Amino acid sequence: MSALEDLLTAAREAMSRAYAPYSGHCVGAALRTRSGHIFSGCNVENAAYPQGWCAETSALAAMVGGGEREVDEVVVMADADGVCAPCGGCRQKLSEFADPTIAVHACGPEGVRASFTLGELLPHRFGADNLHSERD
Ligand code: THU
Repeated sequence: MSALEDLLTAAREAMSRAYAPYSGHCVGAALRTRSGHIFSGCNVENAAYPQGWCAETSALAAMVGGGEREVDEVVVMADADGVCAPCGGCRQKLSEFADPTIAVHACGPEGVRASFTLGELLPHRFGADNLHSERD
């Protein structure tokens, strides 16, 4: 199986475990790290709606908790029509741990529907460099 197929399989499994009773929008995310490991997660909603979180956030938390910090490729899979790319907040969260050149694949259960670089999704990103300018 190809590296991308492995990511798709992990995202599909994560999506099957999504807890989305309020929106009905089930999402799975899987990311491959520089070391080659795959971490995945699903969206987790809450009766107090703003307390829910996205699949990409779950996958990133699994990665950091697993001791890794460098994302090389991302699959986001939604059980819905059209192209579901990461929300704005998740683009920012991904950019904390990934170069703008990495691929982010927006997928449906059947496979990839569109691919972007993170830089295309989040141009002019805000990062650590903005906090530690030469004027400090
Ligand atoms: N959602 C994600 O998991 N990832 C995204 O990038 C966009 C939205 C989830 C959050 C919520 O549980 C549901 O989709 C509807 O917004």
